[in-house]
Amino acid sequence: MSFYVTTPIYYVNAAPHLGHAYSTIGADILARHHRQRGEDVFFLTGTDEHGEPVALAAEKEGVTPKELADRNAARFEALMPRINASNDFFIRTSDPRHKERVQAFMQRVHDNGHVYKGLYEGWYCPRCADFKGENEIAEGNTCPIHRIPLDREEEENWFFRLSSFQEQLEELYAEPGFVAPSTRFNEARSFITGGLNDVSLSRAKLTWGVEVPWDPAHVFYVWFDALLNYYTALSFGAGERDRTAELWPATLQILAKDILKFHAVIWPAMLLAAGEALPQKLFIHGYLTMKSETGEDLKMSKSLGNVLDPFEVMDKFGTDALRYYCFREVSFGQDGAVSTAGFESRYETELANDYGNLASRTIAMIARYRDRATPEAEADPALAAEFEGLPGEVVDLLDRAEITQALERIWQRVRRLNRYVEEQAPWKLAKDPEQADRLDTVLRSLAEGLRVVTVLLHPYMPETTERLMGALGQDGGFAIEAAGFGGGGAGSVTTLDPPLFPKQP
Ligand code: MSP
Repeated sequence: MSFYVTTPIYYVNAAPHLGHAYSTIGADILARHHRQRGEDVFFLTGTDEHGEPVALAAEKEGVTPKELADRNAARFEALMPRINASNDFFIRTSDPRHKERVQAFMQRVHDNGHVYKGLYEGWYCPRCADFKGENEIAEGNTCPIHRIPLDREEEENWFFRLSSFQEQLEELYAEPGFVAPSTRFNEARSFITGGLNDVSLSRAKLTWGVEVPWDPAHVFYVWFDALLNYYTALSFGAGERDRTAELWPATLQILAKDILKFHAVIWPAMLLAAGEALPQKLFIHGYLTMKSETGEDLKMSKSLGNVLDPFEVMDKFGTDALRYYCFREVSFGQDGAVSTAGFESRYETELANDYGNLASRTIAMIARYRDRATPEAEADPALAAEFEGLPGEVVDLLDRAEITQALERIWQRVRRLNRYVEEQAPWKLAKDPEQADRLDTVLRSLAEGLRVVTVLLHPYMPETTERLMGALGQDGGFAIEAAGFGGGGAGSVTTLDPPLFPKQP
């Protein structure tokens, strides 16, 4: 079984911020989870390098678009290992192999009769690289996303006959499924039921893009070139051979709501126009927001200046803490505010106290009372009952990309284990030789519970969980089958030094 997951490809007009890391970490958690299930996973991310936003930013900095793209693409590429993203490939749309495949694909769309030449006039946002519809224009002809004045543009373009896919797209949206969560499904469907207009497919004024093969005076409008990355990458980025036939269509495409229209309407229509299969599902997440200078919670974005630098956070607290925080604090699928104070508080109470302390205490007690050897005893059936069905719940939730809800279920067990320590008070049992068997049971149960949550937390916090698994002396690995309570061995423990989440000065 294959699982092909994508993130949006990021614009190279600026350096990466936490918003970009967020989508990538979300996709990474799912990719790692599906690897735990033994699936053939392909995880793609990359950079969107053509178009006006990049050309404009380059002009401003006095460099060529290619120079700017190289510089910033390198930053995005470096972000990936730093956030522990396990992407199988990093696509850059300036890659000649991508450009060639875009041309071949679009030639098919042309040959199938879905394009024509016409005159375009409309309000255009150079930052979105998008012509705005009447209902997408903010006061004073400004862009509601970037809050900058829109340009009135008129030019001769090639058009894509989006309108001719009205019926097929209505069918796609007849039943829920293609887009999740349901609010986004409804929003996407309303774009379609509102009636589709043809869209411009090429630009004549720009040169920074992929040449239109049947009219080289034009380059493709950047969105057509960009969306196709999900498809072209499989032909050259998935190993020695072309793996398109095995991996296409994508299983899951992750993106934020700002680019819903392109992915939910134009993208499936393009695929239909070329006779290709549609992705199975798009999952639309919300925005990470942060207080701006005016005190409002606004979408974190470079242009508004309210960004949290992921590198700074990771340098201080570690990558896993950042990965955890993003998906704990903001329910995947909704908007949510992040802040340094919120981060520090969760680090302290949840990572250092709930999980870190549980690990340190469990290991310390096994070391002290049982000379490092996890007792062979059977685990406590009462505790086992509370872990029953947990792996299945996590699998079901992650099948729906409900990353935050799955994490919550796991964390409930982390907290349960802490209560178990308090209830059983192993330090009291240790004083009474008649309670030796009970102490064996309690220590074994704690080690086992900790092992189970650690297997399930692995996709969220890969480094921490590897370290803890080693310290527990468990070699059962991270396959999802290993998440059954009672399946662990009687490992020999090692003290965690430093602790998993050291207290910050
Ligand atoms: N290049 C286009 C996407 C083309 S996909 C074929 C683009 N790039 S972008 O650099 O603006 O990145 C957009 C994506 O980054 C969003 O869809 C989202 O996944 C992520 N995010 C950027 N800022 C974000 C937040 N503040 N919060 C959450 N995600 C954010 O659009």
